Amino acid sequence: MYKAKAYSAPSATSPLASGTVARRDPMEHDVQIEILFCGICHSDLHQVRNEWKDVMPTVYPCVPGHEIVGRVTRVGSAVTKFKPGDIVAVGCLVDSDRTCPECKAGLEQFCPNLTLTYNFPDKHLGGVTYGGYSDSVVVDERFVLRVPGNLNLAGTAPLLCAGITTYSPMRHWGVTKGKKVGIVGLGGLGHMGVKFAHALGAHVVVFTTSPAKKEDALRLGADEVVISRHAGEMQKHAGSFDFILDAVSADHDINAFIQLLRRDGNITMVGAPEKPLPVSVFGLIFRRVSLSGSPTGGLPETQEMLDFCGKHNITADVEVIPIQKVNEAYERLLKADVKYRFSIDLASLKAE
Ligand SMILES: NC(=O)c1ccc[n+]([C@@H]2O[C@H](COP(=O)([O-])OP(=O)(O)OC[C@H]3O[C@@H](n4cnc5c(N)ncnc54)[C@H](OP(=O)(O)O)[C@@H]3O)[C@@H](O)[C@H]2O)c1
Ligand SMILES: [Zn+2]
Ligand SMILES: [Zn+2]
Repeated sequence: MYKAKAYSAPSATSPLASGTVARRDPMEHDVQIEILFCGICHSDLHQVRNEWKDVMPTVYPCVPGHEIVGRVTRVGSAVTKFKPGDIVAVGCLVDSDRTCPECKAGLEQFCPNLTLTYNFPDKHLGGVTYGGYSDSVVVDERFVLRVPGNLNLAGTAPLLCAGITTYSPMRHWGVTKGKKVGIVGLGGLGHMGVKFAHALGAHVVVFTTSPAKKEDALRLGADEVVISRHAGEMQKHAGSFDFILDAVSADHDINAFIQLLRRDGNITMVGAPEKPLPVSVFGLIFRRVSLSGSPTGGLPETQEMLDFCGKHNITADVEVIPIQKVNEAYERLLKADVKYRFSIDLASLKAE
């Protein structure tokens, strides 16, 4: 065991502060990673403030962060995929049982015995897992990804959650050329959704509550932008979408988007607001549309997404911040004031 520097939240109402957490020494199959960048996902904020208490109550102290990019510093004796010096990445998952049908299919995100990167029972040390707002992490090599050499590392970190969480449902629901795709909420997830839908050849419409983001949406790859609070603008698109990805972090009216789907269209929720959202079933019935959700992706698909990003030169648009600005960044997330992901430069943690 060793001590790693980390920023953690001591309770749902206190700011994150500097300290240390225990990490295991690398075992046979483990990779020890010096963390270079970690993205700030809105899930980190929900979790730190215990907003998901009914589903996954937060255990304190909580070290969030599941958008990790770093350099391998040490490997266990049985590690074959990585060596010291390699640039690697870790996302939302750090373990699973590897034996269930989901794991065998490479869909570890659905494993009934998965281990999330933070706030999940730690099989090795007891307590809970600690995430990437830290100077290092130790992860089994099966859960470590390769980073294409051409990608900017600060902008790569957010691919590990915002990227895969939007890529996976688009692949599942067949987003391709000729499809009309809506992206609701231009935040961290939303802006990655726009980039992927555009790269996959779809006609992309962004729905935003922030008129000031219109130019950015077009630059990121949108063909059209709709201010979702304008009923008239919304109505023009009624019954026309094949697929809509809803990436909104707060309470909002999803029925306004369900009515935009064409027959057999699908709306997938990736945003995870604190409170349940009312659904008008008639909106689903009349055009046989479906409403679904989607978590992160499995390891093979996450690697596929990173390789896709390498090929198409896709990274997140990031504002790089030192770890000391993390509490301020959370306040700005709540105001939808981020373009379009905060990426923490962990070199700043050395000063603590
Ligand atoms: N399914 C999963 O596995 C998964 C993975 C990661 C994150 N998430 C969840 O996905 C959500 C988005 O995460 P994120 O990191 O992308 O958050 P984010 O960067 O804060 O973006 C959220 C966006 O939602 C829109 N929004 C915020 N408040 C709104 C309101 N009251 N009404 C309508 N729109 C509003 C804003 O976009 P506009 O300014 O364009 O309106 C905002 O930029 C969070 O709930 C997060 O926990 C889920
Ligand atoms: Zn996330
Ligand atoms: Zn499994």
